[in-house]
Amino acid sequence: MTRRILITSALPYVNGIKHLGNLVGSLLPADVHARFHRQIGSEVLFVCATDEHGTPTEIAAAQAGLDPRTFCDAQHARQADVYRRFGLSFDHFGRSSSPANHALTQHFYRRLDAAGLIDERLVPQVWSPADGRYLPDRYVLGTCPHCGDDGARGDQCESCGSLLDPADLIAPRSALSGDARLELRESRHLFLRQSALLDRLSDWLGTRAGWPPFVASLARSWLTADLKDRCITRDLAWGVPVPRPGFEDKVFYVWFDAPIAYIAATQDWAAAAPGRDWRAWWWGDAARETTYVQFLGKDNVPFHAVGFPATLIGSGEPWRTVDVIKGFHWLTHEGGKFSTSRGRGVFLDAALDALPADLWRWWLIANAPERADVDFQAARFVAEVNKDLADVFGNFAQRVTRFARTAFDGRVPEGGEPGEAERALAADVEQRVAAIRAHHAAREFRRAAAETRGLWARANAYVQEAAPWSALRTDRTRAASATRVALGLAELGATVAWSIVPDLAANVLRAVGATPGSGAPAWPHDVPGLILGGPRSGSRLPHSFEPVAKLGAGHLAIA
Ligand code: MF3
Ligand code: ZN
Repeated sequence: MTRRILITSALPYVNGIKHLGNLVGSLLPADVHARFHRQIGSEVLFVCATDEHGTPTEIAAAQAGLDPRTFCDAQHARQADVYRRFGLSFDHFGRSSSPANHALTQHFYRRLDAAGLIDERLVPQVWSPADGRYLPDRYVLGTCPHCGDDGARGDQCESCGSLLDPADLIAPRSALSGDARLELRESRHLFLRQSALLDRLSDWLGTRAGWPPFVASLARSWLTADLKDRCITRDLAWGVPVPRPGFEDKVFYVWFDAPIAYIAATQDWAAAAPGRDWRAWWWGDAARETTYVQFLGKDNVPFHAVGFPATLIGSGEPWRTVDVIKGFHWLTHEGGKFSTSRGRGVFLDAALDALPADLWRWWLIANAPERADVDFQAARFVAEVNKDLADVFGNFAQRVTRFARTAFDGRVPEGGEPGEAERALAADVEQRVAAIRAHHAAREFRRAAAETRGLWARANAYVQEAAPWSALRTDRTRAASATRVALGLAELGATVAWSIVPDLAANVLRAVGATPGSGAPAWPHDVPGLILGGPRSGSRLPHSFEPVAKLGAGHLAIA
């Protein structure tokens, strides 16, 4: 039975190259899950996009001297390139500014309005005459009334953590120009009446299962009697226009249109080739067989567990809502926060300039912040990557493939029978492979990586013990069967690790005589057969395998 699985990663903000924390908190685990499902034969659709609207984009574009569209074109292309080099295997990497998303966002607004779920309200807004624009809360700076810090933002004081309104700040000024002549002006905005949807949202949440406990409890903590109605418009020019008289100068709030872009990106994917049907993933009966999993960081939980479902459910149409939200805690950097604005941490372009993608992929998945925050430390990274990828798996695969090529004339050796040790090995390895599969299926990434590491160590221990290089002198048949078994272990160790380290795995698969092709290597279904049966006996081994070089102290500099 093939399953159909829709996978989305939180949409990265278009502005700027992301850091390792963004990668491990959504994009990378989503990719690993998509790859795993392709390996087990599921029908997979993995979509993502750049999140392009909002004030920060508008301001960054102005600072670059570009109009927002031109600015976003360039930023989108940069990010797409970095993700491709990281091996992120999106079926479609779209843009929230696409015409499809404009149309769909306006469609949802009209449905919600027709359902009586939209209210107009007057909202006091900070107007900066010097900047000639309304300032969002976080672009107003001033002195915190609680702790006296003079760099507090209008939404929150970073120094003492208090939540603030711009009106609370003492001596407020514009974060853009520094100008202090700020005015409060009333501006008319649209609110989505989430409070009216509370019962439906709570019932809906009650039917979801399989969420990490901290995500489920975060979701429940938002769905309480004081669920706030949500302002879904902004005084901005760059965004999806609001099709309503009197709203000509406003656009929808970026958090309203961004999740809708998951659907619009699927429509864009479908439009790009014949025979693709976006409804099979999103709409009514057509999507009945689809399981939908979202990957995102913990700050995104309210928008995906409440905001987006409110849009979908409130529309009264049969949209597919999320089945499982796989949320992540934070990755910190050497004891502090990763920070894009301060340039603190490892950014993805620099990471790829320094080292192959698989090293980052491996460490991040093996240390994914699934149950608590995790600290990235360069020294730990170097030590763990060296041990797992170079000392254990890399060394094993290189030793075995090199030995087979030189001792057995460049072929998988024939002859010899597996013995007791090999039968015990096969039974043990079969269980390990089943455990790895179960962890991937349950989206338990750290466990999947830990079991994979365990399998590699077992393979290494086998070949150490069987030592075909010593046996070669005394018992050539024995050496032949041990080498064949070891090649089978290398094939297995690569196949089950492919979703995490695709390049490394493909190189090993080539070196053991498997032809991986460009698609996903099928998940092994006959593990004992692969180890004991020697399915590739006699086939040629034309490719050598070079493991990634061990990292030295010099590599600590990258972090
Ligand atoms: N851009 C947001 C962030 O990085 C995530 C948007 S997810 C979406 O936090 F669903 F809204 F698209
Ligand atoms: Zn404060």
